[in-house]
This record gives sequence, C-alpha cells and structure tokens, in this order.
Amino acid sequence: MKNISIGLFGFGCVGQGLYQTLNQSKNFAGYIAKIGIKDPRKKRELPSHLFTTDALSIIEDPKIDIIVELIDDASAALEIVVSALKAGKSVVTANKKMVAENMQLLVDLQKETGNAVLYEGAVCASIPIIRTLEEYFGHEPLTEVKGVFNGSTNYILSRVFHDKLDYETALAQAQDLGFAESDPALDVEGYDAKYKLCILISHTFGLHVHPDQVLNLGIQRIKSADLEYASAHGWRIKLLGHAQRIEDKVYAFVMPRFVPINDNLATTENEYNAVVINGEFCDNQWFTGKGAGSLPTGAAVLSDVSALSYAYKYEYKKESHKENVFFSNDSPVKIYASFQSPEDVLLNDFDQVIEKYFSYDHCYVVGTICLNKLRTEIWQNNPHINVVLTADTLDNSLGKLCVNQLKVEIDELKKGQRLRKKLMLQL
Ligand code: HSE
Repeated sequence: MKNISIGLFGFGCVGQGLYQTLNQSKNFAGYIAKIGIKDPRKKRELPSHLFTTDALSIIEDPKIDIIVELIDDASAALEIVVSALKAGKSVVTANKKMVAENMQLLVDLQKETGNAVLYEGAVCASIPIIRTLEEYFGHEPLTEVKGVFNGSTNYILSRVFHDKLDYETALAQAQDLGFAESDPALDVEGYDAKYKLCILISHTFGLHVHPDQVLNLGIQRIKSADLEYASAHGWRIKLLGHAQRIEDKVYAFVMPRFVPINDNLATTENEYNAVVINGEFCDNQWFTGKGAGSLPTGAAVLSDVSALSYAYKYEYKKESHKENVFFSNDSPVKIYASFQSPEDVLLNDFDQVIEKYFSYDHCYVVGTICLNKLRTEIWQNNPHINVVLTADTLDNSLGKLCVNQLKVEIDELKKGQRLRKKLMLQL
C-alpha cells in the first residue's frame, strides 16, 4: 500500500485526534507531511518545520496526496476545499457548516474535477452514517432520519437530569471535554445539529436543503419548570434532529423533545449520538456511538483518509430523486410551549389548543402549530418562550404522530369545520 502523504489544515481538538489515531493505527500507511495553521506563535508539541501559514504551498505541493481540512472557520474551510479540488486533490473535511451550506457547490465541483470530498467526521463523529446511507441504503426508499446529533447538548441534558447540575456548569464541562464548538451557541441553539441534519437529508432523500430553510430551536431556554414538567410525566428532554418524507414533501427541524425514559433515545447519554432511519424495506434502524470528542472524530477522519486511499467517492445515489421531492415547512407539529408570563403567551398562533396552564410565573400551552409559525421572529427570538415537542409516539417511532397523523387529523378537523359551516348556511 502506498504511504499516503497528508496536508492537514488545523491542529485543534480534531486535528490532534487525527494525529493520534494515525500514529496508533496498526494497518494504515499514511503520515502528516505538513500542517497549515493561522497563528505561528502558538506553542505546539510537534516540530516547527511541520507547520506553515502558507496554505497554497500545501495545496500545490505535488508530494502531498490529499488534503484534510479541520479548521473552525467555514468560509476559510470552503476556500481550502475549493482550491484543493481545483488543484487536483481530494479532500477530507469535518466542517459541517461549510458542507451543509455549500452542498450543491461541492457536489458540482466533485463532478467537474473528478476529485472527492468526504465528510464522515462532520456528522455524529464516530457513527459511520454517511457511507452507510450512500452504500448500504443507496437503493432503499428511505422515509425518515432523526436522532441525537449533538454531543455537547446531550452531555448538558444528561448532567442536568442525572446530577442536577446547573446549565452553566454542565456547559463548561462540555467545553472542557472538547465536545463544544468554539462558539457554544452553535451547539445549544441547535445550529450544529441542523448542519448535520441537512447533510443527512442530502444522503437520505437526495435533496440539498440549505440550513436557512430549516427550523432550529435549542435547549438554552429550558427552565426548571420545564424539567419538572418532564420528570412529572416520566420523560426526559433530548435535542433531536428530525427529517421525514411524506409523499413528495420532506419536513425537517431541530427541536428539544420530551422522550419517555424507556425510549432508546432517552438512554442515549452524554456525548453519545444516535441516528435512527426508517426505510420502506428495512423499517427501523438504529446507529449509536460517540458523537463528539478528539479521538472519535479523529477516527472518522482517518476512516475517510483511508477511503480516499482506495479512491472512494460519494456517488450521491439519491440525487436522481431530487426532482420528485420538495422541502416544506407547512406541517403542523404538536408542542409544549412554556411562557414566562401570561403576556408572552401566543395562543392565537396555535391551530389547536389541547391543554393550557397559567400561573403568575409559569404558563404553558400544549397544542398543534405550523412549523412556519415557529420560524417567525417572535418564536425565534423571545427568550421567555421555550418549545419542546410532545412525547406522543406510536410504536417508538418519534415524530410520526407529530407530522403524519396530525396532518390527517387537522385536515379532517378543517373538513368538519367547512362541512358544519356549509350546513349552517343551508339551514
Ligand atoms: N460540537 C459538536 C457536538 C462536536 O457537540 O456534537 C461534534 O460535531
């Protein structure tokens, strides 16, 4: 096997994880030839001749076989990836924001240049889900992909529930353990999970959905009253990403959700992630593993580097279906929304109210509301409103009730209302 020489960009948590896994792997022939960095003054453990701030000298070096991009900044990452592809090199990246926001461009550039971009490490770290969707499920009509896609928030929620830690302490721990993004708002507000969800949507349904189109509500507004409400019902709260195809429409969102304590998603703890897919033939499939951390992410990157060594490429097998499916936010979802005071309550936005509770410092409403409504500014920006999807589930399949059945129920309800109006007019 050829000894692969790697041009690495970034030597943070994941870059060091790659270095370690590469050195400890028994049967992979590869080495890091050069490392591109931003700050040459920073103290590093490897010899200084390995580091350079001259990105082009790495990308254009004929002795370097492949580029591994592991930096934080999505725009700089895109520049590196595009230049590398154009310079004739294949790339491994773990930058989920960059991939999610530029999926169509990356697909087109790969076709144009014949070089590959692999990004298994960008989605749920150690869970080998992208290649599984591409290869094993390449020909299966999939209907749903959902799960716990963010290790930091899952860690925070686990510690808050089990150890009764306060939110800030749990977040600081997630940062110390190297799980959180440099800007942890990306984790707790659900952006990180949304980028991963968008990448999964591309490989599940062949549809490239820009993250701006997808609703994300995070865990930062969860109050102790919400935690008490969950515990009193025998539920936990998990931050879930969810995409579902119903006929020709794909619905997707990232939101906290009440999960019964005996559900597999509830027992996915700490930095572990879970991906659940549903297919017309295979039915329900579960994947679980560490979704954050230096070594699990480094291992996913190493696996992609190894895949490039035998010229592996994603074929985007589902892309041929993309003309037949559309992304939509026109579905109702069933939520619990808590408000700090009665003035905050947005009762009129609900299609249907099932339960109401008002007290001077805590109010909540359980009901159905359209995803489009939750994307409006007031729901997005009011720090006193917290939204959690309800726990109603059928046969352990989260979300089916939330989107599918509710749509039928509401259509029936509207039909009934129209019929009643018609009858009243006739009377
Ligand atoms: N901040 C991310 C997480 C890292 O917590 O899941 C892995 O993508």
